[in-house]
Amino acid sequence: MMTSTPTALTTLQNKRVLLGLCGGIAAYKAAELCRLLVGAGAQVQVVMTKGAQEFITPLTMQALSGQAVHTELLDPGAEAAMGHIQLARWADLILVAPASANFMARLAHGEASDLLTAVCLARRCPLALAPAMNQAMWSNASTAANLGLLKAAGILLFGPANGVQACGDVGPGRLLEPNELLQLCAAQFATGSLAGQRVVITAGPTREAIDPVRYLSNHSSGKMGYALAAAAIEAGADVTLISGPTDLPVPERCKLVPVISALDMLAACQVQAADIFIAVAAVADYRVALPAAGKIKKSAEELSLALVRNPDILATIATSTPRPFCVGFAAETDNLADYAKAKLHSKGLDMIVANDATSTFGNDSASVTAYWPGGEQLFEPQSKTQLARRLIALISQRSLIPHV
Ligand code: CTP
Repeated sequence: MMTSTPTALTTLQNKRVLLGLCGGIAAYKAAELCRLLVGAGAQVQVVMTKGAQEFITPLTMQALSGQAVHTELLDPGAEAAMGHIQLARWADLILVAPASANFMARLAHGEASDLLTAVCLARRCPLALAPAMNQAMWSNASTAANLGLLKAAGILLFGPANGVQACGDVGPGRLLEPNELLQLCAAQFATGSLAGQRVVITAGPTREAIDPVRYLSNHSSGKMGYALAAAAIEAGADVTLISGPTDLPVPERCKLVPVISALDMLAACQVQAADIFIAVAAVADYRVALPAAGKIKKSAEELSLALVRNPDILATIATSTPRPFCVGFAAETDNLADYAKAKLHSKGLDMIVANDATSTFGNDSASVTAYWPGGEQLFEPQSKTQLARRLIALISQRSLIPHV
């Protein structure tokens, strides 16, 4: 079964999100959103209007954000701790979820009559609204006019969704789901260095059938390839992940092409148009010449399997026309630099990333060295997520330099 996970959310790590809540039945969803934001590594400060406090308590939001909740504009004690100007300066992003019709009306007209509107007025960062209201209120001409003013002021709109409402009506005005809001927040911090680029990544092991129940394979977990896919998406690329069997969740917004054998993987790669091709898969070098049609039964003391060489997927793509920018990975147990540089030339690559197979397979962290014609860069031990982001930054930078 394919699952999806918010892997692109690495962009939220250490980001400062000010979460504003207005009154409305959807306020309960903000509790889950707060939990997801904190889980993705963001620092969250919560500001609640009086109306919001009728639906959900500040104590709940305080427990989830790990910070005291801000509610008052004219409270000298609260202003001394972190006043509306400091809150506005602190934030990298302000998201008001749910945003009520009343709040949108006040914001559209520059009112600063409570803490949340005052913070929004004093902001220096992007402001996004996730509206939630009855469908008739949403469709009302006054709301539409306010919306026009808010959009003209560059304020972002997350939703609303269509559907059944708490009051029983059906139509536009539902708050987006917490996970959708989380994705939209993460997208605000994506770097965009690969915007519009088609990136194809091979990942995981391949399995070469011996008979219908057995296969030859290796220990590749696929983690590095999947982390690179997430990092490339974060950088704005259009990513296709051609993956052998793994247990990993598929990064959000990534097209997955599942494959089993090396021959399947080659066929899948040859039909994908790519600007950048990154081969991370641990492709089996050999396959069984003639897999048995039925299960092989044990009888003789010894059994020999005739193996034949698999095609080299990366070397094949590196000679295709038009040729993408080609990056390989070299997993070695010894003479790392020499073997990696030899592969860079023999496979006709633009870059190769060398790693020690004995310490990298299956682990969550890695140390690698990237080599390209005339240069190299060492990456100290770090999480595969962080490493993937740094490698994508390097690949994006080097792929801009004209290549053969
Ligand atoms: N690769 C590939 N197709 C193959 C074998 C390898 O696309 N049939 C790619 C891998 O995805 C990796 C790079 O080539 O990016 C290097 O793979 P590696 O197994 O380290 O090198 P090999 O060429 O197979 O050499 P050897 O096994 O002799 O070390």
